Amino acid sequence: MKRILIVFGTRPEAIKLCPLVRQLRLSPDAYTVKVCVTAQHREMLDHALDAFSIQPDYDLDLMQPRQTLAGLTARILAALDPVLETERPDLVIVQGDTATTLAGALAAFYREIPVAHVEAGLRTGDMAQPFPEEMNRVLTSRLAAWHFAPTARAAEALLREGTAREKLFVTGNTGIDAVLYVRDALDSGALRAPDWPWLEPGKHLVLVTSHRRESFGPGLESVMRALARLASRGDVQIVYPVHRNPNVTGPAHALLAGLPHVTLLDPLPYVPFVDLMRRCKLIITDSGGIQEEAPSLGKPVLVLRAKTERPEAVDAGTVKLVGVDQDRIVAEAARLLDDPAEYARLTRIHNPYGDGHACERIAEALAKQPAVDRA
Ligand code: UD1
Ligand code: UDP
Repeated sequence: MKRILIVFGTRPEAIKLCPLVRQLRLSPDAYTVKVCVTAQHREMLDHALDAFSIQPDYDLDLMQPRQTLAGLTARILAALDPVLETERPDLVIVQGDTATTLAGALAAFYREIPVAHVEAGLRTGDMAQPFPEEMNRVLTSRLAAWHFAPTARAAEALLREGTAREKLFVTGNTGIDAVLYVRDALDSGALRAPDWPWLEPGKHLVLVTSHRRESFGPGLESVMRALARLASRGDVQIVYPVHRNPNVTGPAHALLAGLPHVTLLDPLPYVPFVDLMRRCKLIITDSGGIQEEAPSLGKPVLVLRAKTERPEAVDAGTVKLVGVDQDRIVAEAARLLDDPAEYARLTRIHNPYGDGHACERIAEALAKQPAVDRA
């Protein structure tokens, strides 16, 4: 029996790992699976845990207002080590590119516990974009013994860096398992979304999120001004669940609160958010996870970044990089809203990131290994 400890801390990691927790727990004879959350995020993490009815075995409750990267990383290392000492897992699973991902992998490495990295191999090749996530990914790949790449392109990046082929599996992204599960449950009525009484009938719903560190300051302000200009067209409603980072809430509220046809919300729990993605005309975001999910719902995405580590949907033509330039955002959004041919071009339902079975593939790969070996 393998003892597996799954470590995560932020909203996107939870959304992408809770389906894996559920999948691995289908084989209680093969694995004992425990969950340790760092709670690098608090409410936003709890929303995602609730959506999948997962109760952590350990909650390190580490979030602090305006936490720094170094302070957070140090606290995670210090708080996780006693958990590893108590649990002595055969394998630690981490996901993605956050401070929790890197510190979780490093803490396990220091205890000589093998690490499996879910969503491995995403690269822009630029350590400044996204910051610090690109570096977190590269370092986590070096620390990991096993690599679950979402796409063939991500696997190729790992092979180029010298990752052993037999430790590398192309699985699809577990985030697609999550979004398809919620979409199907909403369709069947097994899950219900709110009524959204404030949705303006007859307007195009433009759903917005943003939180990238490299855009804080002038970049984010330029985005907010573009959204204000879009709202002033009169035929759209901007709906923006604002990330709790004070570097985001500050400019969002200063530049958008109270404008006609702009609805600022607190971060939404996952099920309502998927419902809004289903209802919207267009998504404007810098989120990694939303770039991956939207093609499954047939929604076009304008990405508020200059570079993406998720180029597959850009190549497939359902996602467009627009950066943070105000005029470019307004022009590209107007093109989609006003040109049905352009809109049709970006709304093919085709998802290069997965088919909803990534967790099964990861479980299969883990089951085939007679023993979990060291890096
Ligand atoms: C983190 C990740 C980023 C990921 C993003 C997902 C790192 C370095 N960054 O960025 O890769 O894309 O999460 O959203 O790991 N806060 C709350 N409540 C919450 C969550 C955050 O109040 O539930 C506030 C706190 O003041 C906190 C701040 O947001 O200090 C920043 O949170 P942090 O996790 O450090 O950075 P994010 O920008 O969320
Ligand atoms: N999401 C959510 N509520 C919101 C905004 C986003 O549940 O109000 C979900 C979204 O569907 C995706 C994930 O959160 O699954 C993305 O998280 P985030 O944008 O914070 O991080 P990133 O993916 O950029 O690392």
